[in-house]
Amino acid sequence: MPPLHRRDWLKQSALAAFSLGISLKPIAGEDYLPRNIEAPAGLLNLGANENPYGISPMARKAIIDIIDQSNRYSFNVASLQSFRKEIADYYKVNEDQVLVTAGSGEGLKLLARHFSNGNLVTATPTFGILPSTAKKIGTEVIEIPLNEGKVHQLDLMLKSVTDKTALVYICNPANPTATIVSPSSLKNFCIEASKKAVVLIDEAYIDFLNPPDNESMIGLIDKHPNVLITRTFSKIHGMAGLRVGFLIGDAKLLDKLDKQYFQNTQFAISNLSIAAAMASLKDEEHRKSSREKNAVARDYTFRELTQLKYKVIPSYTNFMFFHLPGYKGDFSDDMYKKNIILRSDSYPDGHWARVSIGLKGEMERFVAEMKAI
Ligand SMILES: Cc1ncc(COP(=O)(O)O)c(C=O)c1O
Repeated sequence: MPPLHRRDWLKQSALAAFSLGISLKPIAGEDYLPRNIEAPAGLLNLGANENPYGISPMARKAIIDIIDQSNRYSFNVASLQSFRKEIADYYKVNEDQVLVTAGSGEGLKLLARHFSNGNLVTATPTFGILPSTAKKIGTEVIEIPLNEGKVHQLDLMLKSVTDKTALVYICNPANPTATIVSPSSLKNFCIEASKKAVVLIDEAYIDFLNPPDNESMIGLIDKHPNVLITRTFSKIHGMAGLRVGFLIGDAKLLDKLDKQYFQNTQFAISNLSIAAAMASLKDEEHRKSSREKNAVARDYTFRELTQLKYKVIPSYTNFMFFHLPGYKGDFSDDMYKKNIILRSDSYPDGHWARVSIGLKGEMERFVAEMKAI
């Protein structure tokens, strides 16, 4: 297949954008970014909330060390057998409370299929994969708007959870808006809502938070077996291209998922990715450094956009959501012409954009383009 040219890329990126939680163009699919993108010199990708600092040096070494065992299936490589156990130990749960998938997005799709016997309650806007899969297969999706500050309205969401609800999906921190709800209010919500349905908390970005905001809902799973947590190695671990995610929840629930739609999802992950994830878990320093550098670049971006009089939603993550009142046209298309990829969409309250936080120098380039508008 020849490399994609810009026009085609834009078309394709509409599909990808949808999967990334914000749609540029008519919703058409849920795939990730297409392969074989022709990257013009200087293209700055601030569209997918990746970690610009890369993978941990320990993960890099683990990949190189395991590469000679690429001829073996993962079940034949002794050193990879403890993967689930190591995740479990790290999060202080049992091995049978962990289910590994090739990226958390895969898990989200399978969950939408598994829980299609009732409605889905979620927010709007939110990360797209799960609700879009649910809609595609005919599940009723009840979407509760975020409030004016772009925060989940947990009280309204709770009222919408009924005996007809199969699944509740909340991203905390939220995508595309980068806001959070407090751990105590989320805990109360999980406890109440999980009396009626399975409550899935997507903690893809939780490692960007500082205490006490970074308290996970994992602590609930023993007493509340309907609470399920999804995590990914794509964000703070900087391993988006290696495709590793996992669910943490009640052992019986995970066993049921595995026997139905999941069916040994860990087998879809390469030896290299498993080895990298195991090593990355041990590299606390890499996560700390990514978190700190992200905060510096994020503060800078927030300050600059605010000075330019944009309404910016304070971000707790590695991306930022800002308002473009009265913007004529499609902001992301216009920025792409300036060699910057980001996401934008129109909502009932106007046009909004989501920019990922890149390296400080990259954000300076983004800010310079914003100043030139
Ligand atoms: C909230 C959220 N959940 C899940 C994912 C999926 O991540 P992955 O499939 O790379 O694990 C993303 C990716 O952007 C995300 O933003």
